[in-house]
Amino acid sequence: MSKLLGSSEAKQSPSFYYPKYPIECAGSSQYNNRAFYTACILVPFFFKRLLSLSWTSYLYLAAILYLPLWGLSLIYFSWYASYPLDQQFTAESLPISNFMEIIDDELKQKYPDTSKIPMEVFFESYFDGKINLKQDCLKTFEQRYSWASFGLTLNQIKFFLFQFIPEMIWHSRSQDQDQVRDHYDRGDDFYNAFLGETMIYTSGLVSDFDKKESLEQLQQNKLHDVCERLQLKPGDRHLDLGCGWGTLVNYAAKNYKSNSTGITLAVNQAKYATNKSKELGTLDNAKFVCMDYRDAPRRPRYNKISCLEMAEHVGIRKFSEFLDQIKDMLEDDGLFYLQIAGLRSAFQYEDLVWGLFMAKYVFPGADASCPLYWVINKLETAGFEIKSVNTVGIHYSATIGRWYENWMSNKDSITSKYGKRWFRVWEVFLAWSTIVARQGSSTCFQILAHKNLNAFDRAAVLTKPL
Ligand SMILES: C[S@@+](CC[C@H](N)C(=O)[O-])C[C@H]1O[C@@H](n2cnc3c(N)ncnc32)[C@H](O)[C@@H]1O
Repeated sequence: MSKLLGSSEAKQSPSFYYPKYPIECAGSSQYNNRAFYTACILVPFFFKRLLSLSWTSYLYLAAILYLPLWGLSLIYFSWYASYPLDQQFTAESLPISNFMEIIDDELKQKYPDTSKIPMEVFFESYFDGKINLKQDCLKTFEQRYSWASFGLTLNQIKFFLFQFIPEMIWHSRSQDQDQVRDHYDRGDDFYNAFLGETMIYTSGLVSDFDKKESLEQLQQNKLHDVCERLQLKPGDRHLDLGCGWGTLVNYAAKNYKSNSTGITLAVNQAKYATNKSKELGTLDNAKFVCMDYRDAPRRPRYNKISCLEMAEHVGIRKFSEFLDQIKDMLEDDGLFYLQIAGLRSAFQYEDLVWGLFMAKYVFPGADASCPLYWVINKLETAGFEIKSVNTVGIHYSATIGRWYENWMSNKDSITSKYGKRWFRVWEVFLAWSTIVARQGSSTCFQILAHKNLNAFDRAAVLTKPL
């Protein structure tokens, strides 16, 4: 009997947010690699003939056209791929007007009730105030296959080619600083409105599947889990890279008596964390520094290093350098805990539409969100041995779902201070990401690693399941 979500046999826990009809979108298995590579050969050849170019110019042209052709092929296949046939459920096409009121006349004409609206057109129009929702946003997104299509748009491919890719290649200090401060220094009250009192901007952990644990409990479970996995001891020199508002550092300093240092590039976060440390009485062994991770003091070395969802900001291009730096900063018998958000390799088109939305609006510059094999490959190549990996996407969904509930309960105060547009951007981000993390489009990995040395005492870090 099927235990898949949506079937009557599926066991449901009050901690998670369940779909009524989970639909599989088309994706990588419908993408035609052969057609793409043929285009990569023939299109530059066409221009070579047309402009009487040399074979060397042909090779240059082929290299230049590779990415644009890839973008165009993704647009083509995302629009023309049919949904996988072995669906357990099919999406009932319902009139758009069941879900939203289109205020803008031009848009209304373009998308009559009988059509589906491309997701990118929907969220851009919603942010611009051209559409109002008729019901709760999360509920609307749970039924998105009834009113939305997931074809990539030219706007998204332009963003990908002319902003995402250049920023991914560049990743200079000043670019990182601008992007990080623009995001995290928006206002502590903005973040408090969804993160709640723990001010932790990373996945929590559900520990009791039989009840709906609060956000605070999920984060408490995570803090405990991280410190236990790191086997934190009094006096340990502990570094938390990308410490956010400092909650892990203060928690470790208070409960494990470690000498913990948190580093963040966001000015407000460092101030907030230091004030919190005064309040909690951890000033003696918790320290916060506002600086780029590249400038973190490397000596004396650290016994424990944690990095919770900052490495995405490091970027694909700088990732290996970043791991070399961690290896250099870590004692030979030290432990490294990496929590990192990732994407599935066998993508569905919805994943790409969501990923580009996130890169544009929520985490600009955080491009190192990759499949697990990529992260592990980088870690092992840098000389780490992986002690354990946990995939916690479903816990992330539970966490983001609670962020969504908090956000919606603060609608009036956020709208009056930050405006309707910011409110709506985060409303869509949190609603959609609750689903995206639940269905595996994106996930989160908790990785414990240490240096891969012959002399490393592997028996000393044997972990029992927590
Ligand atoms: C998603 S938040 C995670 C915060 C925290 N680890 C938590 O669990 O709440 C990412 C953090 O990485 C920090 N960050 C991003 N790029 C950075 C850089 N180049 N140097 C230092 N910190 C950086 C941000 O300031 C932010 O604190």
